[in-house]
Amino acid sequence: MLLAYRKSVPMFATAVLLMGGLISAAHAGDDDDERMPAVKNALFQAECGSCHVAYPARLLSAASWRAMMSGLDKHFGSDASLDAESAREIGAYLEKNAGRDRYAASGKLILRITETRWFQREHDEVSARTWKNPKVKSAANCAACHTQAVNGKYSEHDIRIPR
Ligand code: HEC
Ligand code: HEC
Repeated sequence: MLLAYRKSVPMFATAVLLMGGLISAAHAGDDDDERMPAVKNALFQAECGSCHVAYPARLLSAASWRAMMSGLDKHFGSDASLDAESAREIGAYLEKNAGRDRYAASGKLILRITETRWFQREHDEVSARTWKNPKVKSAANCAACHTQAVNGKYSEHDIRIPR
């Protein structure tokens, strides 16, 4: 699944860096319930948005981000290692913008947004058939349905379920 993503990485990363300022300004007036603050850290966007979208920091707790950032060499079956300086900056950004621990169910530290009760409740209307659609591939592939996920936007107006 990563191959398909990688082809578009250089353009994607450049666009994100160029547009970051515009996006945060343009979306400042949105009033969605589940509005995500625009992703503002360029290093995070570049390093953590190459294989998948740079997930909104507030969807995991600080403890979860800390655990994830300390094991990037074994990152969900991938090697996402960073130099120490970058890891420190990104880790600090994620923890500063992290959400509350309610995202970690039953005391167990959750490293996947898609395993939180919040995510499962929010997506309970998505059918098993849709989750198995090869165009979706994985629940972690937010951008398959959230057309503005790359901009940190998850409004229900920007959802297109692949057929
Ligand atoms: C080399 C590719 C690669 C890079 C770089 C990468 N990841 Fe990932 N990441 C993955 C893969 C593969 C998965 C599992 C995706 C799946 O299950 O479909 C994943 C999953 C995740 C998940 C869990 C998604 C879910 O299921 O809720 C989070 C959170 C995450 N990554 C954060 C990060 C952060 C933070 C960084 C930057 C420090 C990063 N990733 C960099 C490949 C990468
Ligand atoms: C298979 C398609 C699909 C995938 C993949 C998917 N979502 Fe969703 N998402 C939906 C649907 C459908 C809803 C429900 C919208 C509604 O309530 O009308 C939703 C709702 C949401 C909402 C609440 C939006 C609102 O305004 O109420 C957020 C936030 C969200 N998803 C984030 C994510 C994140 C983050 C990921 C990836 C880790 C993801 N989604 C992956 C389809 C998807």
